[in-house]
Amino acid sequence: MISDVSHLDHADDLAGPARRRAALAAVLGRDGIAVLAATPERNRNNDVDYPYRANSDFRYLTGFVEPSAIAVLAPGAEIGEYIVFCRERDPAAETWIGKRAGTEGVAREYGADAAFPIDEFEARIGDLLARRKTLYTTQGINPEFETQLLARLNGLRARGRHAEPPETIVSLNSVVHEMRLIKDADEIALMRQAAATSAAGHIAAMQAAEPGVMEYQLEATLHYVYGLAGMHWAYPTIVGAGANGCILHYIENAAPLADGDLVLIDSGAEYRGYAGDITRTFPANGRFSDVQRRLYDIVLAANEAGIAACTVGAPASAPHQAALAVLVDGLIALGFVTGDRQTVIENERYKPFFMHGTSHWLGMDVHDVGAYKKDGEWRPLAAGMVLTIEPGLYVPPGSEGIDEAYWGIGIRVEDDVVITDDGPEVLTGDVPKTPDRIEALMASNARS
Ligand code: GLY
Ligand code: MN
Ligand code: MN
Repeated sequence: MISDVSHLDHADDLAGPARRRAALAAVLGRDGIAVLAATPERNRNNDVDYPYRANSDFRYLTGFVEPSAIAVLAPGAEIGEYIVFCRERDPAAETWIGKRAGTEGVAREYGADAAFPIDEFEARIGDLLARRKTLYTTQGINPEFETQLLARLNGLRARGRHAEPPETIVSLNSVVHEMRLIKDADEIALMRQAAATSAAGHIAAMQAAEPGVMEYQLEATLHYVYGLAGMHWAYPTIVGAGANGCILHYIENAAPLADGDLVLIDSGAEYRGYAGDITRTFPANGRFSDVQRRLYDIVLAANEAGIAACTVGAPASAPHQAALAVLVDGLIALGFVTGDRQTVIENERYKPFFMHGTSHWLGMDVHDVGAYKKDGEWRPLAAGMVLTIEPGLYVPPGSEGIDEAYWGIGIRVEDDVVITDDGPEVLTGDVPKTPDRIEALMASNARS
């Protein structure tokens, strides 16, 4: 297994960020300036911080993943268009904590036209802002920095006409998130890697499952596969056995798998900042019961209908509508809800069993950025968008009016799909999802 993944390159390809900065510079023009900061480090306790994860907008535009950094894009500026403020080299800190690029490294390796120690930001930002009409900066992504930057801007305004700071502030989110919504070929290649390793983790977990195994042991199996590939989970892994599968964001993962349980696993690996996001549901003992299979087949058909609806030009709501129609037909056939499809949908009678959406954008963030609607209308799907298809049915214990044989069953089937001109590309097809293929895989597993 280790040799399978040793070819993976974990350094960011810096051509992508350079292209994106050029595209952003064209939006800014000579009158605009963009300023954004890396996410601050977060303390866990005393001198131990949480593992650092750069914010996605910053990484997208810079490829730079150290904390304590600020990027400025100022088209036509005399000192250079792309200016980075970062931590300086520090032998003692680098002995204890790790290497730093330093200002020279940022200029040499990350394409900065000029680089300064982060401590000089306050002193230099006034000159950079002078005579720019519009400041583009993040909103709600790095509140402490954003507040300080606005305070600095107000200070410059108070100094009177000589400072000439920008009059207009525009959300950088709206520009960058629109860019991030359409993935280029290089990004899709990274997402294929994230999806492939996510799939390998799910396969390993199915093979490790049997009654008596703990939910956290399956989590560990997934994370081991991710770790072997040099990857990390993209969001906390959900492993819900039995009725825990009905808790949408269950991450305690502390219960044993019981004979007769279904196990719902929602987990994905992150590769060079790009997320995979897969859910599979399978029987702990390797065989679906008739009742489980009846519900499972409905969810699977909904997943397939959702994927089939992922076509260029379809409204972004089309996958949800397609999956929902199948789920609702199934609920009516089972007698869980009464009425025809349209009435059940209009009155949301399906909601006790399916209470979440079918899709979200996927990219550097698991719930990725980008508007779903424009002017109140669902936007059309376009090539390069990536989204999940994840219908589910959940019948928590105590569900009134429902045969007890169904209580405690939670099922979700989630795939990652790229919109292409040739139809949907499913990135996560490596993990079995038909009951027959799941049972065949589990029959060949390593259980003694
Ligand atoms: N893993 C979170 C989600 O599927 O949306
Ligand atoms: Mn998802
Ligand atoms: Mn998921």
